[in-house]
Amino acid sequence: MSDSVPIFELKQVSQQFNSLSALSEINLQISPGERVALVGSSGAGKSTLINLLNGTLFPTSGEVWALGHNLSRLSPQRLRQVQQQIGTVYQQFHLVDSLRVIHNVNAGHLSRWSFLKAAASLIFPLEVETAAKALARVGIPEKLYARTDQLSGGQQQRVALARVMVQNPLVILADEPISSLDPEHSREIMDLLRKLSQETGKTLVISLHAIEFARTYCDRLIGLQQGKILFDAPVAAVSPEMIEQLYRLEKSGWRSN
Ligand SMILES: Nc1ncnc2c1ncn2[C@@H]1O[C@H](COP(=O)(O)OP(=O)(O)O)[C@@H](O)[C@H]1O
Ligand SMILES: [Mg+2]
Repeated sequence: MSDSVPIFELKQVSQQFNSLSALSEINLQISPGERVALVGSSGAGKSTLINLLNGTLFPTSGEVWALGHNLSRLSPQRLRQVQQQIGTVYQQFHLVDSLRVIHNVNAGHLSRWSFLKAAASLIFPLEVETAAKALARVGIPEKLYARTDQLSGGQQQRVALARVMVQNPLVILADEPISSLDPEHSREIMDLLRKLSQETGKTLVISLHAIEFARTYCDRLIGLQQGKILFDAPVAAVSPEMIEQLYRLEKSGWRSN
């Protein structure tokens, strides 16, 4: 994909949930290799935006373009192909607790594997080497055959990162990947995400409640407030006043949910 084609482009995107307007008239472009943080209070629309970017949600109006495609216009099969290039990491890891780590890591292959191959791999793990390499990169090589539910939260998020490495997408989306971790583990996970994007040129879009992590690890901040973009600027151009304004409603006790 040439550098001139944005990885993502949103044109006048609005998302309604019944009478609630979760996002309204969002316009933005994200270029290959950018590291972008979505920041804002709880209920601002960050997760909704992530779900639109990976095509798990289609906008009520407007267009979401990813990797040169209007996601609402793709056949289910083409959509799955585009989604292979968009990896997502979630706050709650989205792992299967009862499975061994290797199976959760190998789930990164699932969109490429046939059903039979995927089913067989649960009995005889395939691609052990790839999974072992990914686990080594996230710092827990010894956990390959551990049961996932016996790992700590920080280790489970590493498994989720290893899964996304195995998927090897062009873009990584992360929806509050550190909000259930303590500060030390948060730093480690953010270091890994940054390293992954620096080494491979992958585009990163991360929703973060913690503004300091967003400032430290990302190049561009998009501030969302009640479903609208309050600012969209390089980190250096975001002033304390802009941050204050972003969280003003939260401090005054406003909650949308
Ligand atoms: N599936 C849904 N059905 C109804 N309302 C939803 C749904 N998903 C999100 N919302 C609402 O949309 C708004 C934005 O939510 P969300 O994108 O989760 O915000 P954030 O991730 O910034 O906390 C909230 O008011 C939330 O309650
Ligand atoms: Mg959210």
